[in-house]
Amino acid sequence: MKKLVFATNNNHKLVEARALLPQYQILSLADIGCFEELPEDQDTLAGNAQQKAEYVFRKFGVDCFADDTGLEVDALGGRPGVYSARYAGPLRSASDNMNKLLEELRGHTDRKAAFKTVIALYLGGALTCFEGAVQGQITDSLKGASGFGYDPVFQPLGYQHTFGQMTEVEKNRLSHRGRALEKMAFFFSEA
Ligand code: IMP
Repeated sequence: MKKLVFATNNNHKLVEARALLPQYQILSLADIGCFEELPEDQDTLAGNAQQKAEYVFRKFGVDCFADDTGLEVDALGGRPGVYSARYAGPLRSASDNMNKLLEELRGHTDRKAAFKTVIALYLGGALTCFEGAVQGQITDSLKGASGFGYDPVFQPLGYQHTFGQMTEVEKNRLSHRGRALEKMAFFFSEA
């Protein structure tokens, strides 16, 4: 089976990717002995995804991909966007981030938001990017405990439940990263 490194140690993301790319053995950063924090100081999702993937490709010489995700909230002019991880501070705490978001949106009736993901793939030394997005709204309280990050406050358009109340399979089918991974899977099928 061909090996492909996903430049992450986030177990939720690894489970998502392994479900959508069954033809590959998906390895984590820990699996290849990469324990340092990857550089991620660009001001766009594509810039960060590319920076992380390029770091792993150059240092380890392996086929790999990296993702970067942002939550864009309409009433906040698109914030936190590319700064979603450190929205409430450098600790990158998911509960602090969600509480800050609910606080900032208190009293707002416009709760529209979108998750956006860019995946940067280095395959045979060539770079290709894939994008995925899902529209939805920010709930007024935390709902559910599945998934990670902002999942308990994000309700995708057309659904009555947050990502935090869905199974991994349900979330994968419609999520930003699921859609970007599907595009990458299609790219592999065409290659
Ligand atoms: P990163 O791209 O994984 O660094 O994610 C940026 C921020 O978005 C972090 O706060 C993550 O927890 C959050 N995030 C990324 N993907 C998801 C997701 O699928 N659901 C909820 N939050 C996410």
